Amino acid sequence: MKAAAIAFLLLVSSAASRAAELPRVATDAAGATRLIVDGKPFTVLGGELGNSNASHVAVAKPLFAKLAAMKLNTVLVPVSWELVEPVEEKYAFDLVGDLVREARRQKLHVVLLWFGSWKNGMSSYVPAWIKSNPERFPRAEVAGGRRVEALSAFAPTNVQADARAFRALMRYLRSVDGHDHTVIMVQVENEVAMIDEVADRGALAKAAFASPVPKELLARFPGKAAGTWDQAFGRGPAAEEMFMAWHYATYTETVARTGKAAYPLPMLTNAALNRAGKKPGQYPSGGPLPHLFEAWKAGAPSLDLLAPDIYLPDFVTWCDRYQRPGNPLFIPEAKNDADAAVHALYAIGRGALGFSPFAIESAGDADAAALTKAYVALTELGPVLAAAGAGKTAGVLFEKEHPTATLRLGDLVLGVSHDYTFEWASPARHDAVWPRGGGLIVQIAPDEFIVTGNGIIVTFAAAAGVTVGIERIDEGRVTNGAFVVTRRLNGDETHQGRHLRLPMGALGVQRVKLYRFK
Ligand code: DGJ
Repeated sequence: MKAAAIAFLLLVSSAASRAAELPRVATDAAGATRLIVDGKPFTVLGGELGNSNASHVAVAKPLFAKLAAMKLNTVLVPVSWELVEPVEEKYAFDLVGDLVREARRQKLHVVLLWFGSWKNGMSSYVPAWIKSNPERFPRAEVAGGRRVEALSAFAPTNVQADARAFRALMRYLRSVDGHDHTVIMVQVENEVAMIDEVADRGALAKAAFASPVPKELLARFPGKAAGTWDQAFGRGPAAEEMFMAWHYATYTETVARTGKAAYPLPMLTNAALNRAGKKPGQYPSGGPLPHLFEAWKAGAPSLDLLAPDIYLPDFVTWCDRYQRPGNPLFIPEAKNDADAAVHALYAIGRGALGFSPFAIESAGDADAAALTKAYVALTELGPVLAAAGAGKTAGVLFEKEHPTATLRLGDLVLGVSHDYTFEWASPARHDAVWPRGGGLIVQIAPDEFIVTGNGIIVTFAAAAGVTVGIERIDEGRVTNGAFVVTRRLNGDETHQGRHLRLPMGALGVQRVKLYRFK
């Protein structure tokens, strides 16, 4: 066979295997869960478009170019039900195709957001033929029988219509992207929640509330006696919220499962978080919140993960609550402010599949520049993080609630504290562009680390009886998987060998090599 023919066959077979290997979420033997795209671990360095900026490709096109220049590798893009099914069963997916092709042209991946039955607890994205027919497509009801602007989770017609449209969308995606994998994940619904009251008071909901708690859910609460919702979970808002969570979860499951049958991309759904001290009914209730995980995990097994939209303070605790066995951390929405760059480093350092500030196209110049620096550093670190594997990376983030931290990597104990606490830290005590201290640490060998971030001091210790010293610290950057040294740091920069320090006010990258003696 001629060389050209062999090359052609190889090309065809590698293209075929690429098409066969769909994006997926996988946990490796060492316990690290990752998004795998075209056979390789992929970290979403993302941003979510504002709600209305994907409603016309002419609006999205320059934004995608801007986001690619900002060094995002993925954009989270809404698809609204009303635009893709304006007439019942007459689909208009050209817009989706155009958006996917434009993103691909900019070498961006896409996480599509299915704004279907619910968006922030409302149903503003459902088509007019649904909005205008509440007899056929029932609404949730609140006290006094008032119907609200949100579809009922209890009406089979609602979930059937949503699942049918979503299946058509996934079929279409497979036809336009089944080979390229520009779209790597799909969010099903957006911030599902009951917002007017804790529970739907319509007739269908009342009947469901009086029926027994399904055994799949009860099985997750060992020791709970079978019975109706208030028998099992106690009378009051907590039982009502668990009930709503189960029904939102099973509804979302039907949509996700039907879509996956057409094209099995990884799928997630996201939560509007609840403020501390508020009771069910006082915050968007029944969504995939940490205290409702059992309902969502049992009710929606087709979802690969449940995700937090983090706008509230205490980023660390929200990440702790969502990163659990069986639920990898992915942050589809985060506050788009000066902290986003450090939040990105922190989240990826602790093993998140991705991070994405909301309304990314509206980021201020300074915030955008900081995020770009963080994303460039994360892109460069990508091969190092992938090679390090499970348990070898950590995030660092200093917040009011978390002023210091102690990390264990291998047999070493790393004490991390904020640069503010260092007496020599002046004059960069406050920095408008990098106001938050934090970053990520990766262990590249038992006694060697790369630390990337801003405003971090790290000390190193081992077991009693062994002193750990700093052999050397180099400042530099990672290029093509290797650390390239720009300066050897010593003297004042390491406090005469006492610690590694990334000063406030700039994104630093340093490599430290330790030594031990008795
Ligand atoms: C969370 C929602 O999921 C987004 O679509 C958007 O409405 C933001 N809130 C606005 O802050």
